[in-house]
Amino acid sequence: MSSDSERLLVRQARWVARDVVELRLTRPAGGALPPWEPGAHVELTLPSGLRRTYSLCGDIADGQAWTVAVHRAPDGRGGSREIHDTALVGRELEVRGPVNRFPLMPAEGYLLLAGGIGVAPLLPMARELTARGLPWRLVLGARDRSRLAYAEELVALGGDRVLLVPQDEAGLPDLAAELAATPPAHAVYACGPRPMLDAVTALCRAADPPRTPHLERFTAAVSELPGESAPRSGEFEVVLNRSGLRMTVPAHRSVLDVVREKLPDVPYSCEEGYCGSCETPVTAGLPDHRDTVIDPAERPTATTMMICVSRSASPVLELDL
Ligand code: FES
Repeated sequence: MSSDSERLLVRQARWVARDVVELRLTRPAGGALPPWEPGAHVELTLPSGLRRTYSLCGDIADGQAWTVAVHRAPDGRGGSREIHDTALVGRELEVRGPVNRFPLMPAEGYLLLAGGIGVAPLLPMARELTARGLPWRLVLGARDRSRLAYAEELVALGGDRVLLVPQDEAGLPDLAAELAATPPAHAVYACGPRPMLDAVTALCRAADPPRTPHLERFTAAVSELPGESAPRSGEFEVVLNRSGLRMTVPAHRSVLDVVREKLPDVPYSCEEGYCGSCETPVTAGLPDHRDTVIDPAERPTATTMMICVSRSASPVLELDL
């Protein structure tokens, strides 16, 4: 993530669905914020010091504010609970970014697949594609109607290009049918819980010709990743080849934590294994991959690792740092 950061005021909070609060962030004295593109995210430092990344979901034409939507994840790692349980309006938060690792790539049209709060980065994409006059379709699934964030706004924007799928009434979205109806020259973007993204990936691989979806992994995936409640395995040594450093990674700390003490500029963002910013080449040793960036099928031959969550299956791990 960019090291540019500034303190922004939480100007407004509003509910956009059950358990989803939207925060509007502005400069304390007003004024234009840096521009951003659909798919971008920012990192908030919460009052407790926790850092969390959220997709920008406002309108790119609104240069005065950045907007994020936060789903309360009761079994998450504490960030969303803090946002929901703290009176943040009127307070300032440190905000870094924006950074975009989920950009709209050129295509003849777009299929946007959202699960729950995964709609956040896809909403500005739908606005942008409408402004560009490009064909798009958006499918938003959630457990029930009360959890379909931004449903009214999406329908107003796209009419019958938007399909809302409340699971208690209609079951899961028919991803296979959606993909089959999408021309090969159209791009597929998906953001949502891990099982949904795994299904999209599998269907795209099996398509003829196979297609490569653009995925943003977060929300439900986070609670499944090693975190506060998941045990880390034991201690191991890390050798940083380029820096000539050797250090111990204790059982309760991540490689990233330990490396940052010596190399404070090492890149990172989500610290939860889904954004890919901390991807680091491994020159020797056996990584224990715990991220959701590297496809499980590619783990045995992967030559890199996400040092924020992955660990070592060998006593020593050598990294190209
Ligand atoms: S910081 Fe995001 S994958 Fe490691």
